[in-house]
Amino acid sequence: MYLLKNSVGRKIIMSVTGFTMLTFVIVHLVGNASIYDGPDGINTYAAALHHNSTFLLAVRLTLLGFCSLHVFFGTLLTLRNNAAKPQGYAVNKSLSATFASKNMIWTGLLVAVFIIYHLLHFTFQVTNPEISAFKHLDAKGRHDVFTMIVLSFRHLFIALAYVCGVGILGLHLSHGIQSSIQTVGLNSRKIFPFILKSGMILWIIIFLGFSSFPIAILTGIFK
Ligand code: HEM
Repeated sequence: MYLLKNSVGRKIIMSVTGFTMLTFVIVHLVGNASIYDGPDGINTYAAALHHNSTFLLAVRLTLLGFCSLHVFFGTLLTLRNNAAKPQGYAVNKSLSATFASKNMIWTGLLVAVFIIYHLLHFTFQVTNPEISAFKHLDAKGRHDVFTMIVLSFRHLFIALAYVCGVGILGLHLSHGIQSSIQTVGLNSRKIFPFILKSGMILWIIIFLGFSSFPIAILTGIFK
């Protein structure tokens, strides 16, 4: 309860929930990269995900719970922070001035919109029912996730929506990681270059990694 009431405690909750979701994002990126092994690669990965339904339910509930906490406390921190201006809360000015840090609430909101769209598209498969993997099975009788992804990203607007979505997600996470490093007390001038670099590296991994799928499919590099 103490954690929930003081501002450092809330920042710790933001860091822990954010870091857990970041771990999921990295695992998801590595899992999705199995598409480069062809239909068997990604369809095996998707079938393995669905094989253990208890594990899947636990992951889904954890993500949902952590995402709700993150949104709730993120909104609260922003409101408090705005009300306390011009002082702001105790982060170093050179980091708090970046575009990503000033727009966390907006990039967070756009990430939420992107995730809702993504779930409707690939998990519930309602936005493009004509290419749903529920309808198509591969040669081994599994949901054909490969075909669903390839047919999706041949649409310019869907591919663009994903490239923009993961660009914004990368921006949000880049400041998230910098802020988390400061939350655990690593806040000195000496490690600023490292903090700034960690954000940049994360943005590059997330953006280039995830956008490589729609770009490779849309441009026909990957058929
Ligand atoms: C081009 C990029 C991406 C591709 C191709 C992709 C692909 C997929 C696919 C195929 C599924 C459904 C898996 C299944 O049920 O069989 C899925 C689920 C999901 N994706 Fe992605 N994804 C991408 C980016 C992202 C990003 C950036 C995030 C995080 C912000 C994300 C979060 C999720 C979540 C939360 C689920 C639901 C997992 C569950 O079933 O509980 N995805 N994704």
